[in-house]
Amino acid sequence: MTSLLGTSPDPLPLEQELDGLAQRCEACRHCSLGSSRRQVVVSRGNPRARLMVIGEGPGAQEDETGLPFVGRSGQLLDQMLESVGIDSNRDAYVCNIVKCRPPENRKPTVLEMAACRPWLDRQIALVNPGVILLAGATAVEGLLGIKGGMTKERGQWRQWEGRWLMPIFHPSYLLRNPSKERGSPKWLTWQDLQDVQRRLAQLDTSL
Ligand code: SF4
Ligand code: URA
Repeated sequence: MTSLLGTSPDPLPLEQELDGLAQRCEACRHCSLGSSRRQVVVSRGNPRARLMVIGEGPGAQEDETGLPFVGRSGQLLDQMLESVGIDSNRDAYVCNIVKCRPPENRKPTVLEMAACRPWLDRQIALVNPGVILLAGATAVEGLLGIKGGMTKERGQWRQWEGRWLMPIFHPSYLLRNPSKERGSPKWLTWQDLQDVQRRLAQLDTSL
């Protein structure tokens, strides 16, 4: 890039920027989760997708594999996304509020979420998604700083920094509430995901 002040280096390609971010996360000890994790869990999926999925934090399988949403919750999430034509690895970039597993799968603390926030902000800036799906109350709290009940928040579109946000129930909650009956949490989530799919289609046609 040339400017009046001279030549500044061209920005790195997206993949290279994200690799650099992952390496810096691997070395991160900004909060105490850094010392109990096995592996840091940064992301999976397509960094060029228009959709970003943000969960709470890694669980046991994620800590083991280094990939977000690969355990039972992740499998359910993938299935539900698939049912509205969204392939989580092709059509989404998947990550979490905290990159290291909280011991015993406890909820990350406010301090841990704040310590990890710069990594998430960088991911959002680089991937630049048009739509963000917030899976569960911790994702809503971690990104927006609000403690809303998910019954009220889910399915409600919000605008945030020029992006569309949609909170949904966390898949682990859906695993505990497997009914698919009309009005059940799973049924509601399916309506929400159809809505997300419509929004993505709209963004594609407005390009
Ligand atoms: Fe760093 Fe985030 Fe891991 Fe804490 S959870 S050590 S802030 S990467
Ligand atoms: N796995 C993740 O990566 N995130 C969650 O929020 C739950 C399970």
